[in-house]
Amino acid sequence: MLTTGTFQAARQRTCGACVLIPAMLSYRHQFHAGNVADVFKHAMLTRLLLALAKKDKPFCVLDTHAGVGLYDLSHPWSQKTEEWRSGIARIWGRKDVPESLVPYLEAIRADNPDGQLRRYPGSPRIARRLMRDTDRLVLCELNKDDCAALKELFAGVRHTAIHNKDGFQSLRAFLPPQERRGLTFIDAAFDQADEFGRVVRAAKEAYSRFATGMTAIWYPLMAPSAMDAFARSLRAAGLPKTLQLELTVHPENWTEHIRGSGMIVVNPPFGLDREAPPLLDWLWQALSPEKAGGTRCEWLVRE
Ligand SMILES: C[S@@+](CC[C@H](N)C(=O)[O-])C[C@H]1O[C@@H](n2cnc3c(N)ncnc32)[C@H](O)[C@@H]1O
Repeated sequence: MLTTGTFQAARQRTCGACVLIPAMLSYRHQFHAGNVADVFKHAMLTRLLLALAKKDKPFCVLDTHAGVGLYDLSHPWSQKTEEWRSGIARIWGRKDVPESLVPYLEAIRADNPDGQLRRYPGSPRIARRLMRDTDRLVLCELNKDDCAALKELFAGVRHTAIHNKDGFQSLRAFLPPQERRGLTFIDAAFDQADEFGRVVRAAKEAYSRFATGMTAIWYPLMAPSAMDAFARSLRAAGLPKTLQLELTVHPENWTEHIRGSGMIVVNPPFGLDREAPPLLDWLWQALSPEKAGGTRCEWLVRE
């Protein structure tokens, strides 16, 4: 069985706010907002949303683990870890960004209109910005306080529903969407035992309920043997074409916090396998000071 113990131990050293107590909600994204993993996952998220928006027909995004939607980088928790300094701060203000990264940076700029990096938008905020009025956003957040903050942020925003609900259970409640087009975005906290097993089961469930839908699952990189087991269980899950993307910015023996992260994209948009590698390479150049780690864009399941 894959467990998140190593990752959790690393995270504990970093923020001091996360403890491995199964079945308890200990994770708070405020400690990590804007870090390397966020830059990677949100840059990829924008590519998936833009692909969906190419067609006029409305689509639906189900964000199963939404967080609070917007993070103040001067918050004491962000100041304690300063993870955003090695993430978004490293590419903020760069003039040489590839075109495929521009929509992501524009979404961050929209929350920092004076050019000073003070706030970092989370996946719900980034998604809503790239969606049209007719597209529907469904957000689930299990933490009561975070969910209340999310409700406040999106008060009065059309076609946006917020639920204080378990994101894994939300698949049963909300899939398939009436639009029959869309993305299920699963960005679990990885603060509980067997979270890797849960995301594999979630990928299977999302596919069985919404076979033509896109599913994107973020995951932290752990020991290579654990990652091999994760890939094997995904390959055995009976999924359709599935792409695996990764950005690693630290060496394998790195213990301060996660060395990198990945995203599984089930039913990826046409051309993502060609579009992602140069974007990931640019991010790696920008975000890996020691030039350690690397990138990956591989078919986990081919058509
Ligand atoms: C990694 S953060 C999400 C960040 C957000 N997706 C973003 O990109 O801005 C994970 C979130 O999931 C929440 N959470 C933990 N377990 C959950 C569950 N079973 N269902 C829904 N939300 C959960 C945590 O409170 C946390 O806010």
